[in-house]
Amino acid sequence: MFDDKFVWGVASSAYQVEGTDPDDGRGKTVWDTFTEQGRIFQNQNAYTSCDHMHHYKDDYALMKNLGIKAYRFSLNWARILPEGTGRVNEKAIAMYRDMILTMKENGITPYITLFHWEFPQALQEKGGWLNEEVVDWFGEYAKVVAENFSDLCEYFITINEPQCVVGLGHLSGVHAPGLKLSIPETFQIAHNLLKAHGQAVINLRKYAKQKIRIGFAPTGGVAYPYTDSAEDIEAARKVYFGFYNPMDNWTWNISWFSDPVFLGHYPKEGLEKFKEYLPEITETDMQLIHQPLDFMGQNIYNGYYVRQGADGEPEFVDREPGFPKTACNWPVTPKAFYYGIKFLTERYPLPLYITENGMSCHDNVSFDGRVHDNDRITFLDSYIGAMQRAYDEGADIRGYFLWTFLDNFEWSEGYRERFGMIYVDFMTQRRIVKDSAFWYQNVIGTNGGNLSTNQTTKEILFLDPVCTHNIWGGTRLREDFHYPVEGDDLWECWGISAHPNGDVTLRDCGFRGMKLSELWKNIRKFSEMWTVTVSHS
Ligand code: BGC
Repeated sequence: MFDDKFVWGVASSAYQVEGTDPDDGRGKTVWDTFTEQGRIFQNQNAYTSCDHMHHYKDDYALMKNLGIKAYRFSLNWARILPEGTGRVNEKAIAMYRDMILTMKENGITPYITLFHWEFPQALQEKGGWLNEEVVDWFGEYAKVVAENFSDLCEYFITINEPQCVVGLGHLSGVHAPGLKLSIPETFQIAHNLLKAHGQAVINLRKYAKQKIRIGFAPTGGVAYPYTDSAEDIEAARKVYFGFYNPMDNWTWNISWFSDPVFLGHYPKEGLEKFKEYLPEITETDMQLIHQPLDFMGQNIYNGYYVRQGADGEPEFVDREPGFPKTACNWPVTPKAFYYGIKFLTERYPLPLYITENGMSCHDNVSFDGRVHDNDRITFLDSYIGAMQRAYDEGADIRGYFLWTFLDNFEWSEGYRERFGMIYVDFMTQRRIVKDSAFWYQNVIGTNGGNLSTNQTTKEILFLDPVCTHNIWGGTRLREDFHYPVEGDDLWECWGISAHPNGDVTLRDCGFRGMKLSELWKNIRKFSEMWTVTVSHS
């Protein structure tokens, strides 16, 4: 279980939930342009989405009722600075301030993300992330954020998932601004983005009205070990922080983005592998990128198996047939969650917050008017349970933000993926609390006490007894007690025993073949919680 200080939250982003208003004074973002170009599933757009900008009071009241303690949300840069720099839109400042005040009235701690992908169109026209001036543009925006919100809010996150901004936005082009740039240009973008992060940290601190805490929220699939052997764990770690992707997919890695920010240098292996594509990287750049931070965020959804191959090098392993998956076909990999948390907290010297984790389900309203999203409960139960395992082993993890509160605009997928714990009817804006939200309420209320990992198992453990033969034995153990043992010289039966003279073996359960003494010794924590029902029919 988690302690009382553990932060239980939900996460969202501005563009995905807010919607718009003809009088809101906002500027255009690259996502507006992208949707107008018909690049989204069924030509959908986010001009209304969950219309959160007109429903936030009710939405925060609902959060409060569900016991949610923290809300990670983002500000739309172009709503605040319609041209990306310069003129401030006071309506946006007023709206966000009221949102934050309402959250606080409802006992919800705000965690503000400055950039969750809605880049101002006006700045895109000046070259966007490829123009080095973006460092100053983002810095100016951070100053405006600090001046206007830092009196109300203590926690800030600069950038969400740089991997997606660079890779999906500028390499594969499946996200706005939908560009397919050359590989060197994408490295320039990544470098500019990291410098912009650094400049934002400097300005947030410089203009903050109180002591604030700042983090960064990258992402990436977790390479996790196929077995728990030391060799496989090492192989997985090597891949997780290494560079095994083809160049047209290079942005999917952890260390290129996190090492500079958290450790102050690009990883050596990457510098070597990418050397022909890199922009000029100076010592001053590295100092700018490596600003002191208070925490690291990480968005983790899933992972892939790695083991040590026969040649001693890491090797990728296929998933088993029938491997569980989410509605958008992402694999369900709680073990990857455990290993991701372990690997990250071992490598980087900062407390960790899981800034996003969750799944999309085929949610539907039932005849009884409710949404029974059992798959999501199963998913979250196993992931949060895996997080608890890492936490119990000492990983410095401080909080968990479930992605996401409301079903919302899932980028290029439009509304066809439902990630929320609240169902949204996009035609009427009606909200329906899904079963998973009630379940999460209970997780929060008990600090994880209701997780399966903390329950007494109802599983029946079948044991194979140890029977001994002796010259003066007989047949009563078979006849009266029905032990299926051959011979007419049955003497003793150790039915439930971990004694060396009669250490029984488990069968027909998750621990098949294990001796009871081993179970007791190695998995004591679990076995203490079990109600063991023994049967030996
Ligand atoms: C993003 C979210 C997105 C979620 C599910 C994360 O990569 O930060 O904006 O909705 O994943 O795809």
